[in-house]
Amino acid sequence: MPVVNLSLGTRSYNVHVENNALDSVGYLTGRLRLHGKAAIISDSNVYPLYGEKVIHSLEDAGYCTSLHVFEAGEQNKNLSTVEQIVNEMVAEGHDRSSFVVALGGGVVGDLAGFVASVYYRGIPFIQIPTTVMAQVDSSVGGKTAVDIAAGKNLIGAFHQPSLVIADPTTLLSLSPRVLREGMAEMVKHAAIRKPSMLRTLRQLAQEIDLGFTLNTIERLPSVIADNIAIKARIVEEDEKETCGVRAFLNLGHTLGHGIEASVPYGELLHGEVVSLGLRGALRLSRKYCNLSTSAEREVIDTLKALELPLTLPENVTAERALKFTASDKKFSGGTIRFVLLRDLSEPVLSEDVTADDLAETLQWLTTKP
Ligand code: GLY
Repeated sequence: MPVVNLSLGTRSYNVHVENNALDSVGYLTGRLRLHGKAAIISDSNVYPLYGEKVIHSLEDAGYCTSLHVFEAGEQNKNLSTVEQIVNEMVAEGHDRSSFVVALGGGVVGDLAGFVASVYYRGIPFIQIPTTVMAQVDSSVGGKTAVDIAAGKNLIGAFHQPSLVIADPTTLLSLSPRVLREGMAEMVKHAAIRKPSMLRTLRQLAQEIDLGFTLNTIERLPSVIADNIAIKARIVEEDEKETCGVRAFLNLGHTLGHGIEASVPYGELLHGEVVSLGLRGALRLSRKYCNLSTSAEREVIDTLKALELPLTLPENVTAERALKFTASDKKFSGGTIRFVLLRDLSEPVLSEDVTADDLAETLQWLTTKP
C-alpha cells in the first residue's frame, strides 16, 4: 500500500493511500498510540455513506467514539458550527487526551482540523478525506480554517494531522463533475513539479468518461499517492508558507479565487475556477517568463480532457471578477505575488503582474481557447 511520509520533525506523519482503507481506520489509529476518545466530525452528505464503517473500525479497535455531524456546505464552515461541535464534545466528556477524526471533503477537513487546533488548546486529529481535492490537497499540510463574513478561510491555524487515511474507492461515489473538479488540483501539482503526470491524468479523464475499470481502480492509489507526494515535499520545504515555496501551490488560485468570489457560492466549484485561473496564469507566464506554447498547450489539453472550464461562463463578468481578484489575500503591500511558470516544473513567484494584466487576462478568459 502506498504511504507518503511528511517529515516535519515532531509533527511528522504518514498519508496512507489504499483502496478500502476505511476498514483499517481503527488499526491504523492504534499504531499512533492515541488512547483517548475519538470525536468523529463529518457532514450530512458523507456521514450516511461511510460513518458507520469508520465508527465500527474504531470501536472494534477499542476506541470510544462520539459523533458530530453538521449540515453539508461551505456556508456552514463557520465559527457557529465550531462552537456547536465544541459544546457537544464537552458534553460528551472529551478532554485533552481525546482526538478528532475528520471524515469528509475539504469543508469537513478544514473545520474539524480547526476544532482540533483549538479544543483544549490543541488535540491530535486524523484526516479521512473522501474527495479528490481533499485527498491530494486540503487534507495534507496542516492548513485548517473557517470562513467569516469578510472572506473564506480568514480564521485558522496551522495544525498538522497525526495521520491521513485516503481511500480512493470513496471517489467512485462522487459525481463526474466533483471528480473532475478535484483533478484540477492534480493538474496544478503536476505542472509545478511532475509534468509526466499530465499524461496519466489525460488517461484518467478517458476512464471517467467510459466508467472506471477494475484495472484503473487498482491503479488509483499509486496515482493519488504520487500526486500527494508532490505536495508533501513542498510542505516539508516550507511548512508555514514563509519562504515562498509553498506559495507555488497557489498557481491558478489568484484569478481563480477572484472568479469564485464573484459568483454565488456553489455556482462554480473550486477546481473549476482553478482551471480558469490556470489558463490565465499560463498566459501571463508566456508574457513574463517566456513559457513555451507547447508547455502551455500540454496543461490546457489536460484541463480540456478533464472537461474543466477554460472560458468564463456568461454570468461571470470580467469586471466583477477583477473586483474580487484585487481583494485576494495574495496581494501584499500593494504588490501582487503571482505564481507563474518558466517551464513545466519551474514555478516562480513574480511581482511583475500588474492590475491591468489581470483586467486584460480576465477579459481574455471570455474567449475560447
Ligand atoms: N492548498 C494550498 C496549501 O495547502 O498550501
